[in-house]
Amino acid sequence: MKLYFLSTAVVTTTFIYQSYALPFDQAEEEFSYTRKLLSEIDVQEAVKQASPLINILSWDESYAKAKMLVDQMSLEQKVNITTGIGWQTGPCVGNNGRTTSPDFPELCLQDSPLGMRFADGVSSGVAGINAAASFDRAAIRKRGEYMGEEFRAKGAHIQLGPSMNMLRAPEAGRNWEAFGEDPFLVGVASAETITGIQSQGVMAVAKHLIGNEQETNRLVHSANIDERTIQEVYLWPFARSVEAGVASVMCAYNKINGVYACESDYAINKLLKGQLGFKGFVQSDWSATHSTVDSANNGLDMTMPGDISFYSGDSYFGKNLTDAVQAGRVQEDRVTDMVMRIVASWYKLGQDQNFPNTNFHSFRPELDKHIDVQSDHKNLIREMGAASTILLKNLENILPLRTSGIKKMAIIGSDATTNQLGLECEDHGCASGSIASGWGSGTSRYPYLVSPLDGIRARAGNIIDITEHLRDDDLPVAAELASKANIAIVCVNANSGEEYITIKAVADANENTIVVIHSVGPILMPWSNHPNIKAIVLPGLPGQESGNSLADILFGDVNPSGRLPYTIAKRKEDYPAKIDHGMSFEYSEGINIGYRWFDKNGIEPLYEFGYGLSYTSFEYRDININLNQGTANDNVDVQASVTIANTGMVDGAEVPQAYITFPEIADEPPKLLRGFEKIFLGKGSEQVVNFSFRKTELSYYSVESHQWVVPQGEFKVHIGSSSRNIRSSATFTLS
Ligand SMILES: *[C@@H]1O[C@H](CO)[C@@H](O)[C@H](O)[C@H]1NC(C)=O
Ligand SMILES: *[C@@H]1O[C@H](CO)[C@@H](O)[C@H](O)[C@H]1NC(C)=O
Ligand SMILES: *[C@@H]1O[C@H](CO)[C@@H](O)[C@H](O)[C@H]1NC(C)=O
Repeated sequence: MKLYFLSTAVVTTTFIYQSYALPFDQAEEEFSYTRKLLSEIDVQEAVKQASPLINILSWDESYAKAKMLVDQMSLEQKVNITTGIGWQTGPCVGNNGRTTSPDFPELCLQDSPLGMRFADGVSSGVAGINAAASFDRAAIRKRGEYMGEEFRAKGAHIQLGPSMNMLRAPEAGRNWEAFGEDPFLVGVASAETITGIQSQGVMAVAKHLIGNEQETNRLVHSANIDERTIQEVYLWPFARSVEAGVASVMCAYNKINGVYACESDYAINKLLKGQLGFKGFVQSDWSATHSTVDSANNGLDMTMPGDISFYSGDSYFGKNLTDAVQAGRVQEDRVTDMVMRIVASWYKLGQDQNFPNTNFHSFRPELDKHIDVQSDHKNLIREMGAASTILLKNLENILPLRTSGIKKMAIIGSDATTNQLGLECEDHGCASGSIASGWGSGTSRYPYLVSPLDGIRARAGNIIDITEHLRDDDLPVAAELASKANIAIVCVNANSGEEYITIKAVADANENTIVVIHSVGPILMPWSNHPNIKAIVLPGLPGQESGNSLADILFGDVNPSGRLPYTIAKRKEDYPAKIDHGMSFEYSEGINIGYRWFDKNGIEPLYEFGYGLSYTSFEYRDININLNQGTANDNVDVQASVTIANTGMVDGAEVPQAYITFPEIADEPPKLLRGFEKIFLGKGSEQVVNFSFRKTELSYYSVESHQWVVPQGEFKVHIGSSSRNIRSSATFTLS
């Protein structure tokens, strides 16, 4: 494990997660505060209300409504709305205080970015990293929609996601919750997710502002990031989120350039509310608030879950905030602004009308109405699982499997199967059996998990004789089974240790070995060139329909079209950054994150960003560039179009990616992703794909003028099927 799998930090952060997410039984035990929050609600009514036609208001309209309500509030009432009622005091992981006359409800804030945590009757779909790997805007939006629908039906006002921290160091523990290593991709995925969630009248939360790229020492460390890198890499997804109308932003645990993120005037006031014009509210990560006056004055709008530390019963807001106002250390206008932001967000999402009562309870199952809100979401989850599966290697077109040619198949590895322990342990915190999700607060409970074995068996029917060895030891047995089969499928994951040996034992014994990898992020693959390993399939974290999505790909019912949202290096040392165990660390690679680093330093990756194979082939015809506006100013508008034809034997989807090389004056890495599309093409058909580059895509951040600037000079547009498989390039000049 230590040698071959980079994502070991998932394991080393155990204790941190446990201080955040108490094991369920302990939570029960320590729950002392009994009250009846759940009003009687008709179950059918909740489900009916769950598919609303939401009329999302503009911020101006929302603020006008909020003002009428907030004008009637006393200082204590306003402060109450900004203050969480305490960990495990309400039904949700976070609830703020209510007011009566005028009436404002306790809002329900609930994990996680991939579905509802601490609830049953919910879906547990593909992780954020898989959503990104689909490179499919429409599918990412639909994923947001179904999650929003489930949160609303359960009566949760606020979904604590999406997670949009950057995959900077491959072993960082929570990379899988977010969308990979490229700011443009993360920005698109964040905006689509937010639009999807909020279309259901549920507030989305962009998190975590900012610099929360690792878990180790996250409560105390300072991420030191220079101005340009903040703007071009780490703030970028938040900028796209604000443009998408996100209701809330969560400030991070860590410090940014020496100051706690939740009391950082720079991060919250200057960047988020100032430069980006964010109108919604900033909430703290759970216990990430460290002060009353500094937090309030520097832009924090809501403290979560309210108490200073879990169960402490006191708060930096609440009475402390009221006192600070009365002592003149915080202006009452600031408190009014906090509440306006919260109440306006509530009106913006239409939550003043027909919002279902909260009908689940995170900590007390006996108070939970156990409403099943899954609807038919499993279909989309299965589709997304397949659409985000990346085919890395496919020698001799061994895939898709042709059922007629295979008599005997061996399935090897503990990852091929599920067991009760793996399914039931809280927040998926024990690596046991197949992995289809990461673990921690970013999870939701599986309603069921279709294992790879179940999925393959269901698809193979009785045409193929399947033998199995569902363990990672007893290698002679595994090799023996493999030697007697036409095809050997080895299922491995990033959380257990013997895969290298298992893979090698099987590959040595069977010349048609297919490796299937369930992992939270990049892994090292020193075995990838073994001549008997004919195919490598990377389903990542596909969620509850795992085995079905896998079978769809293996048997060719779905043509793979997932693309790597990160770089897979040949050697660990090739990556630009690693986890830092200190208290203060520099993002010294600057803007050269991910593939930019490999490009700039001429390092050959094993599999590059944007890479993924298909069962068909695509031809790209030359780019046409159309300059609607030839000058480097705010109205710049450059169009590039390319014709793509499916020249192979089967239908399939292609992901043309547009990379830009900037004029030298901008001092950018060799190329930056600035556009992508996913197009479905029947065999023999073709389509024109257009990319549009405007100020956002064509500017760099100038530290001299502290502004985004469109440089003058010669640009290059490269359109390719990955960051290193450029099919066509063209230049244009802005003057
Ligand atoms: C503050 O919120 C709590 C919890 O919702 C509620 O019981 C209390 O009445 C509220 N206080 C005020 C002043 O509104
Ligand atoms: C006010 O904040 C201090 C820490 O600054 C804390 O010790 C105290 O308990 C808080 N008071 C209340 C009433 O929550
Ligand atoms: C793509 O661009 C071409 C020319 O640049 C234009 O004629 C065509 O209408 C565009 N197609 C779409 C779908 O926007």
